[in-house]
Amino acid sequence: MKPLKRLGRRRASILSLLAVGALAIPVAASAVPDDTVPAPAPKAPRAPQAPKTSAADAADAAQESTLGGQAATSGRYFGTAVAAGRLGDSTYATILNREFTSVTAENEMKWDATEPARGAFAFGPADRIASQAAARKQRLRGHTLVWHSQLPAWVASIKDANTLRGVMNNHISTVANRYKGKVYAWDVVNEAFEDGPGGQLRPSVFQKVLGNGFIEQAFRTARAADPKAKLCYNDYNTDDWTHAKTQSVYRMVRDFKKRGVPIDCVGFQSHFGAEGPPANYRTTLASFAALGVDVQITELDIAQAAPTAYAESVKACLSVARCTGITAWGIRDSDSWRVKESPLLFDGRGKQKPAYQAALSALGAKKPAAGLPASFRWTSSGPLIGPKPDAAHKVAALKDPTVVRHDGKYHVFASTASKSGYNLVYLNFKDWSQAGKATHHYLDRTAIGTGYRAAPQVFYNTQQRLWYLVYQTGNASYSTNPDINDPSGWSAPRHFYPSMPEIIKQNMGKGNWVDMWVICDTANCYQFSSDDNGHLYRSQTTVGQFPKGFGSTVIAAKDSKFAMFEASNVYKVQGRNQYLLLVEAIGSDGRRYFRSWTTNSLAGSWSPLAATEGNPFARSNNVTFPAGAWTKDISHGELIRASNDQTLTVPACNLEYLYQGQDPKAGGDYDLLPWRLSLLKQTHSTC
Ligand code: XIL
Repeated sequence: MKPLKRLGRRRASILSLLAVGALAIPVAASAVPDDTVPAPAPKAPRAPQAPKTSAADAADAAQESTLGGQAATSGRYFGTAVAAGRLGDSTYATILNREFTSVTAENEMKWDATEPARGAFAFGPADRIASQAAARKQRLRGHTLVWHSQLPAWVASIKDANTLRGVMNNHISTVANRYKGKVYAWDVVNEAFEDGPGGQLRPSVFQKVLGNGFIEQAFRTARAADPKAKLCYNDYNTDDWTHAKTQSVYRMVRDFKKRGVPIDCVGFQSHFGAEGPPANYRTTLASFAALGVDVQITELDIAQAAPTAYAESVKACLSVARCTGITAWGIRDSDSWRVKESPLLFDGRGKQKPAYQAALSALGAKKPAAGLPASFRWTSSGPLIGPKPDAAHKVAALKDPTVVRHDGKYHVFASTASKSGYNLVYLNFKDWSQAGKATHHYLDRTAIGTGYRAAPQVFYNTQQRLWYLVYQTGNASYSTNPDINDPSGWSAPRHFYPSMPEIIKQNMGKGNWVDMWVICDTANCYQFSSDDNGHLYRSQTTVGQFPKGFGSTVIAAKDSKFAMFEASNVYKVQGRNQYLLLVEAIGSDGRRYFRSWTTNSLAGSWSPLAATEGNPFARSNNVTFPAGAWTKDISHGELIRASNDQTLTVPACNLEYLYQGQDPKAGGDYDLLPWRLSLLKQTHSTC
């Protein structure tokens, strides 16, 4: 195949550039046309559009961090009260399905809803909520079996103890039985205690007609009806450990546990005023838990929803091992029974309120990682790595570096350019100050072999536990090595493709197929490459098939020849659903520089980030050279990554880029241009 016979991958393109006119330029020192002075001058890249980040960011946050998802990281649920009548509201349903891992029927399982007339049970709306929970694999809290409120008049007016006992037991049995296996925890008895200093039971019909024993009776009946459901006592104003009501409930639970009355949990409604939970809230939760019951925050809402008050409530639950979950009493403020106090986590339009962020971070969510900025500034070192010729390797330049940090060392692979063509070199060193002293291992001495090899990319494949070196040989090739420290461990080159994909042949013109780059997400591996003719190509295979199966090659991006020339890098941005594309362009000054784009899908289209000469990713006009402006080209190189694996993940902040530069006065034979490797460090990083 022809490309293998080429001495240098760029020689052909340079010859063709010369052929269109540069030959006429005299070879004079200051005006020496190096390979970067093509004629005619390339068209300036088009103006950037505003980077599309906000929608992607929202999707990203939702994916990576929700109330339910975050609570689950500590084995807890985060639930909400649900109204059956609102399930058809798409904003409501979207938030419900995305954020919550437990639901409580706000009213639909109460006595007035389920047994409005004696023996006439009605379960339509309650069933709809139960089905919603089952469909979304959300837990279902049953609320509530015995309560003085929302109690039909026919029950409240019963005077006869036997009748009321029969009615109560029948209600508990019938309702608990209907949701057997579906309800995770039942609020068996709700709000049985009085407020105020006395701490006695409230004079409900149950208390008055059946006496104080009705609570125990209710728990025993519920256990018989659904032995697997957790049985809770639920109340409000029981959050402050010093309150008489809290102490009365505590004594009852302690007594139940002592006597073997079936109780498994205590619910704290936690309908708070603007000040949020009392300072001793944790003591309360922990003290109840110490009796051998689970505790749960069952109806959380806080007047005006101060973020700190929500954070405190959440943290209190997290601080108690047996606090198994938190339920907010509704989704949006407009759904709240305390609508005038705006006490919930989402506003009336379904937007997350500051209290939401506070609750989420109290649950342990990391702040969404910062994204990439829309412009970049750098400072450059001087040349750090240059050729170390030996008798067999009369190397004139080191080029196209790839780099990983592994085992406390940087491992750099680069192209070596010499009169006899291109091959590869490997070196490692502890830090950049040592880079110049590192031993150069020429890889033509290994199974990688002699002949045209250039533009390496190195990464570790975590599934296969192998290092991959991807490079060009005319075809796209790779070698593998179990140990990156061992230069002799690389396997002989293999091709990714049987031959150049058809679409590249058709679009490459007089360019070259160069700079292969592999990056994988969780499902697929993608291979990008350039053609020195304005096209970025993308092929794909599955993660399982990699390195085999690359196909479906498409043009992933295109521009004019010099605006999208070669040396493309594609990275995943750490902590974000964002990918970064860098492509080397040739500027209006004939010098190399990098443009950048982002996308939220590797198979998607790319939006400009810093992609013009005026606002480049990296160009001489956004780089300072404290030790002297030794190069005007910021050419082929690689970002220092955050990890070494096939995801090619880079940080969003404090970027570093290893690049090739050259003395601006140099000229002459393209293959003998004195490229050296140097490091850019991002300045003014915004995070
Ligand atoms: C409230 C509901 O949110 C309202 O829609 C309804 O009108 C009245 O009840 N303690 C409880 C909950 O145990 O059932 C109550 O729910 C709020 C106070």
